[in-house]
Order: sequence, then structure tokens, then C-alpha cells
Amino acid sequence: MGIEAQGGQKTAGANTVAPATGKLGVMVVGLGAVATTFIAGVEAVRRGLAKPIGSLTQMGTIRLGKRTDNQSPLIKDFAPLADLKDIVFTGWDLFEDNVYESAAHAQVLDKAMLDQLKPYLETIKPLPAVFDQYYVKRLHGTHVKTGKNKRDLADQVIADIRAFKKTVDRVVIIWCASTEIFITPSAVHQSIEAFEKGLDTNDIGISPSQIYAYAALSEGVPFANGAPNLTVDTPAMVELSKKNAAPICGKDFKTGQTMMKTVLAPAFKARMLGVSGWFSTNILGNRDGEVLDDPESFKTKEESKLGSLDYIFQPELYPDLYKDLYHKIRINYYPPRGDQKEAWDNIDIFGWLGYPMQIKVNFLCRDSILAAPIALDLVLFMDLAKRAPSLRSIGIQEWLSFYLKAPQSAPGLYPEHDLFIQSMKLKNTLRHIMGADLITHLGLEYYD
Ligand SMILES: NC(=O)c1ccc[n+]([C@@H]2O[C@H](COP(=O)([O-])OP(=O)(O)OC[C@H]3O[C@@H](n4cnc5c(N)ncnc54)[C@H](O)[C@@H]3O)[C@@H](O)[C@H]2O)c1
Repeated sequence: MGIEAQGGQKTAGANTVAPATGKLGVMVVGLGAVATTFIAGVEAVRRGLAKPIGSLTQMGTIRLGKRTDNQSPLIKDFAPLADLKDIVFTGWDLFEDNVYESAAHAQVLDKAMLDQLKPYLETIKPLPAVFDQYYVKRLHGTHVKTGKNKRDLADQVIADIRAFKKTVDRVVIIWCASTEIFITPSAVHQSIEAFEKGLDTNDIGISPSQIYAYAALSEGVPFANGAPNLTVDTPAMVELSKKNAAPICGKDFKTGQTMMKTVLAPAFKARMLGVSGWFSTNILGNRDGEVLDDPESFKTKEESKLGSLDYIFQPELYPDLYKDLYHKIRINYYPPRGDQKEAWDNIDIFGWLGYPMQIKVNFLCRDSILAAPIALDLVLFMDLAKRAPSLRSIGIQEWLSFYLKAPQSAPGLYPEHDLFIQSMKLKNTLRHIMGADLITHLGLEYYD
């Protein structure tokens, strides 16, 4: 007999996840459009000026038990997440602007809102960045650390983390900085030892994002990556993450176009509709758009955005439907639009007997408005993972794939891109760590 809420799979008790006592320090790498919208948004919510729309940790519920049990607490009441009032922010950037100045420059939030938050936002001033223009061609910054080699720079980031740790109870680091050039994993990424040697010899395969990640993981601090950079997606960083119980997850916030893709593609596949082409284009005018205008940074983004369809459609299982799919992605820098990106998708599908049809999606979104709640949720869930005995030492937190364009998974395991499978996985992981019954959606018991 199947049961929808499956008992007997409890492995953890609620009391085994450590409570979120004290202050959670959030160190943000890159205080640009996304980061300042995230920080200002948290402060606006703390003051009751606005609602945390788009944040599952703040607004989402989780069903417990059978559908007839009528038990759906808020996620934040079910799992011991840090309270927004306990979050303390700091960060790094290669420009000296404080968070108020940077938010004003990004022009995402309106002036009236920013002015109410100004006294607080002005207090958050960036620490000098680890930066090298070789890895982000379009930026020139002055607020940058100098050191005799990459090891020295990593040590300076470690010193920043240690100093901040003295003022808070726990720390999480999140990368909200620019997209770096495309880097293929090489020998230096294969083990902690090789990586540390590479830090000493200034190996070109080690980018600034990897230096921050190494520093975080060495200090046992969870590290989330909002950009498509290689960063922690290497054997060396997975090893370090496990060794120091410092959770990592995938990369690149899944916000606009890819979010829609991972909703639509599973629907076509579920109904066995074929897809012959998927053309995605974007215009974007913020600094991120400017950085992505460089072909080497674009390549990193392109790879991250391309992955989802192949995994969802499984052309090897369904050659008649998806083998010849032509998938193309363009991003064009178009300054007049600022952060208000516009994305178009043309999808050529085919149905019964091969008859073709078309779908057009035109998403006029606000990039940072979509990304900010994802940054918040990732930070809170990574902090939870660090306090959950069954999660903290496993390295990759695959249950957070829900938020990422390029989820990370165990070696040899294909990543799960379907948004609804990801959502179920996330919620079942929360049930699991809190000792609640998992939900299988079988539901035969209602028909006994
Ligand atoms: N907004 C979205 O919907 C979305 C979705 C997915 C991914 N992303 C990624 O998030 C990242 C941030 O986007 P954004 O719109 O805020 O960009 P942005 O250009 O406004 O901000 C990036 C900031 O990072 C800083 N920076 C760059 N390299 C750094 C380094 N090594 N150390 C410290 N600071 C550094 C820059 O000076 C800048 O202030 C980008 O990589 C973008 O691709 C955004």
C-alpha cells in the first residue's frame, strides 16, 4: 500500500539541527545591482516598508502529512532559519562606493525607498577586492588588494573573514560579483594539494572567485555562487567543502529566461511534444550586461544557460522528439534598458504526426528584483545546511538546485533542472532534516 506522506524514512530529529542563535554574518562578494537590491530589500522588509515577495524562506509554506491533515506551516516556522533581524552584512568590491551609492548607481530601487534606507546603507562599505582584469575584461577598479602571490591574496581574504567572525555568530559568503571569463578545469583544480600549490605559483587557472571560495571553505564558511564562474565546481573545492563542513551548491542565479525554460521544457516533455528549435535573446543595459558584452565572459554565461534543455529533454532517451533541437542564446548590451531586461524566446515545437507549432515568450523582467530573493534564500538555506548534521559535511547541496541555472551534483550524476522536481527535492530535504514524513504524491490511501 502506498502512502502519500511516506513514514519510516525519518533519519533526523528536529532537535539535531542546531538553532539559529545570534547573528548571521553575510559577506557579499561584489556590491553591485543584485547585492545592493538584496541588502536594501532585507532592510526594507525589516522595517516593514515592503514585503519579501519572491522569497520562499519568507513567504513559502510546507505541507506536512496528508492532504487531509491541513498542516502547512511557513517554512521559516518549520525549519530553524536565521531571522532577518539577525542578519549583518558586509562585502567586497573593487569600487569604493558604499551600498547606498552603489544602489543609487544601479537604479533598481526608486529614490524614495533608497532615501529612507540611506543612513543604514551608507554604513556598509566594501572591503578591498581580490581582482584581476584578466578575468573580467570590462572592469577597471582601484579598491583592490595587492599581494606577492595568489596565496597571499587568499590569506588576506581569510583575515577579512576572521575579523568579521569576531563580530557575529556564523558566516555565509555569497558571490554576487561579475561573471569571469570561461575557465576549463585543469590539473590545478583536481585536488586541494594541487590547488594550494597553484596559489603559490600564481596558476592562471585560479581566478579571483576561486580565491574567495578557497578562503571561505578553508574557514568552514558556506559559499554560494550567483554567477556562472567555475569557482567551486571542481574536485578540489568539493574536497575542501567536505573536509571543512562548508556547504557549496551550484552556480548562477536562475531568475528570468532560464527559470521560464525550466518550467516550459518539462511541460513539453511530460506531454511528449517535440522541440526542433529554441532561440533565446535578451537586451540588458546594466553593468552585468556590459561585462557580458565581452565574449569571454559571455561564453561562461552561455555555457551555464545552455545546459538546462539537454538535461531536461534527454535526447538520448527521446531521439524522435529532441535529437535535432537547435538551441541558441544571445545577450545584447543595450544601455537604455538598465536593469530592466527584456527576453524573447521563440520555441518551435511539433505535435501529433509531426505538425509544427510555435510559442513566443516575451519576458519584461527586472533582473535584480528577481535575483535578490534568491540571494536571500540561498544565504539562509546554506546557513541551515551548515547547522544540519546530515547536510553539513556532504559538500554539494543538490537540494538548492532550485535556485541555480547550473546545479552542481555528485560526480557521474546528471543535474536535475526541472523547477518542479527541484522544488519537491528542496521541500523533502527540509522535511528530512526536521524529521518529518517525506511526501511522495502517491496518495492511494485516500481511496482505501
Ligand atoms: N540579476 C540576475 O538576474 C542574475 C541572474 C543570474 C546571475 N547573475 C549574476 O550575478 C552577478 C551580479 O550581477 P549584477 O547585475 O549585480 O552585476 P553588477 O555589475 O551590478 O555587480 C557586480 C559587482 O561585482 C563587482 N566585482 C567584480 N569582480 C569582483 C571581484 N573580484 N571582487 C569583488 N567585487 C567584484 C563589480 O565591481 C560590481 O560592483 C553577475 O555575475 C550576474 O551575471 C545575475
